[in-house]
Amino acid sequence: MSDKKFLKVLQGEQYERPPFWFMRQAGRYLPEYRELRTKAGGFLDMVYNPEFATEVTMQPLRRFGMDAAILFSDILVIPHALGQKLTFITGEGPKLEAIETADGLVKLCEDALDDVLQPVYDTVKNLRSQIVQEKMTDTALIGFAGAPWTVATYMVEGGGSKTFEKVKAFAYRDPAGFAQLIDIVTNSTIHYLKKQIEYGAEAIQIFDSWAGVLDQDQFAQWVMLPTIRIVTALKESYPDVPVIGFPKGAGILYESYAQNTGIDAVGLDTQVPTKWAAEVLQTELTVQGNLDPVALLVGGDAMEKETRRILEDLSAGPYIFNLGHGVIKETPPEHVDQLAKFIRGEA
Ligand code: CP3
Repeated sequence: MSDKKFLKVLQGEQYERPPFWFMRQAGRYLPEYRELRTKAGGFLDMVYNPEFATEVTMQPLRRFGMDAAILFSDILVIPHALGQKLTFITGEGPKLEAIETADGLVKLCEDALDDVLQPVYDTVKNLRSQIVQEKMTDTALIGFAGAPWTVATYMVEGGGSKTFEKVKAFAYRDPAGFAQLIDIVTNSTIHYLKKQIEYGAEAIQIFDSWAGVLDQDQFAQWVMLPTIRIVTALKESYPDVPVIGFPKGAGILYESYAQNTGIDAVGLDTQVPTKWAAEVLQTELTVQGNLDPVALLVGGDAMEKETRRILEDLSAGPYIFNLGHGVIKETPPEHVDQLAKFIRGEA
């Protein structure tokens, strides 16, 4: 078993100074990322190029010394590898050819997954050796995927959404057809994550960014069940690889998610009260989170005040410092530096 600090905490150990990483730690807030993206041509050109993807993953580690690297990829490579058309238009986010009813499912095919995703696996492999080469011997490598519900929202809406009308309507009108879609994504995700582990991922995070838009029954069906299936399948093959679940926006349903999905750690969004999390969640499993990304954007005293409170509330149990959601692209890199130093106790 590895003795990297990040992995130790996922096994339940505690440190006075928690390990840290930031969701979306690689990305547009870094000038060196923007430069490489221009060189690559576009976002997907970076994702499917192991050399570029490795470089972009390493960029924040070199500046800020996080305790974990996260594979540079995207949750939407699964629909893409299933055959759904996907484009990333700068400033507009992802666009997919929407699948609004079960009729659209015939377009999806699981046979060619690895043909599309092999460069991502190669990136994982490269990263393990690059991390050693750059002497970051205590840095762990996180692999990831979107949770089936969240991935399905993009597949059905054809991109981002504020209301989730199309995807919810599909699930209400045709639960059996929607279950088929969720099954296809779940199976592909299990395959994809197992491959990432095979190629060297040391922990896995499942991003369920839109877990918070469902009622309790839908949450049980479309968030809990697929997550249980994924975690169970991973644990069957790789019992020692920890899994972090991030059911953003789940509110009071965090409790049942944390207790019943089989995950090793739960990622807290900014809205989860930290004292509640310490009492209800952290007594059962490791918690991660949950600084407001806007506090990081603002930096200075406001950021330090929030960080201090979170550290006070969560440092008495197994805890990984992170944000409650991804780094905002306007964030000054100096603020990330300030935060990294603050968490390490250097400032
Ligand atoms: O550093 C890391 O965290 C690793 C890489 C990573 C990306 N996306 C790169 C990315 C990870 C873990 C993700 C996860 C992801 N992707 C999620 C779940 C987390 C969350 O933010 O809720 C979701 C919902 C997506 C889908 C997605 N990808 C959207 C909605 C967008 C557009 C919005 C945006 O921020 O531009 C993306 C694009 C994307 N994924 C970028 C990056 C660095 C920006 C692409 C660019 O360079 O323009």
